[in-house]
Amino acid sequence: MKEQLEAIRKNALDAIQAAKDNAGLDALRVKYLGRKGELTGVLKKMGGLSADMRPVMGQMANEVRSALEQAVEKQAEILAEKAMEARLALETVDITMPGKKSAIGHRHPMYTALDEFKEIFINMGFEVMDGPEIEESAYNFDKLNTPDDHPAREWSDTFYLNQDSKILLRTQTSPMQIRAMETYGVPIRMISPGRVYRKDEVDATHSPMFHQIEGLVVDKGVTMADLKGTLNAVIREIYGADTKTRFRPHHFPFTEPSCEVDVQCARCGGKGCPTCKGEGWMEVLGAGMVHPKVLAGCGVDPDVYSGFAFGFGLERMAMARFKINDMRLIFENDVRFLEQF
Ligand code: DAH
Repeated sequence: MKEQLEAIRKNALDAIQAAKDNAGLDALRVKYLGRKGELTGVLKKMGGLSADMRPVMGQMANEVRSALEQAVEKQAEILAEKAMEARLALETVDITMPGKKSAIGHRHPMYTALDEFKEIFINMGFEVMDGPEIEESAYNFDKLNTPDDHPAREWSDTFYLNQDSKILLRTQTSPMQIRAMETYGVPIRMISPGRVYRKDEVDATHSPMFHQIEGLVVDKGVTMADLKGTLNAVIREIYGADTKTRFRPHHFPFTEPSCEVDVQCARCGGKGCPTCKGEGWMEVLGAGMVHPKVLAGCGVDPDVYSGFAFGFGLERMAMARFKINDMRLIFENDVRFLEQF
């Protein structure tokens, strides 16, 4: 029996130390230490031993058992360590490899132009206001002194949202003049940028949705000189200090007198070139002295207060600022274009 135990110990230890994985190790534990295992098999024969041999063999069997148990435990640790090493080797991070670039976007060029524009007006004490794109025709037309037969009221020009022509997509930001005066009263100095909608076909200079920036100043003693001084200062900030401007008489229902403002073409210096379509000048905004009827309609006494208003086209300004020659590029959102700014 002693030889048998020695043989089990030796074979088992060799096998356990050679085990390559947990499944193999487990099989060995069952084979040697299990209830039907080899060691148990030997112990079962103890009954046939003499009384003085039994405790000796019993002790030896126990020693073999604990030696095998320890060996299994140790081998399990070794296997676990090896498995961890293998996994670490597999998951190594090569810190010398170039990183993955995540594409971070940036502001759309038109909004960059708008931010610069707002900055100029905020520095002059203007407030920036936001207004509804779905507007009442009362605000878009009536309160702006627009005659009933004005062509802009036609269904062919304007997106109406109901049959009785009372709700529409605003065709201009000018209704914000009314909303601002009704809400905040006068004196007031504000600009209001936003989307406007007209039934226009898309081409290089037209879109059914575009952006305007409305402006309104009302106070005691405001004159056309204030209008010219303010707008000249703004235009020179945007287009350069040497920019020449031209104030041309025009008509808008809500201003009297009204004008359009042109800047001299920087490319040809006024001689005429493809950029200015041979004109030498480029129109940048409409403006005028707020019509007394508009003031009165907002509860402002036109004998006490006067003011000027203006409307810039944002796309046109962004196109001039960034030398973009086709308005469609502004709306298409092609990253190959946007990345250039
Ligand atoms: N709302 C006008 C348009 O869409 C632009 C405009 C002209 C705005 C004169 C004004 C203004 O405030 O005084 O054509």
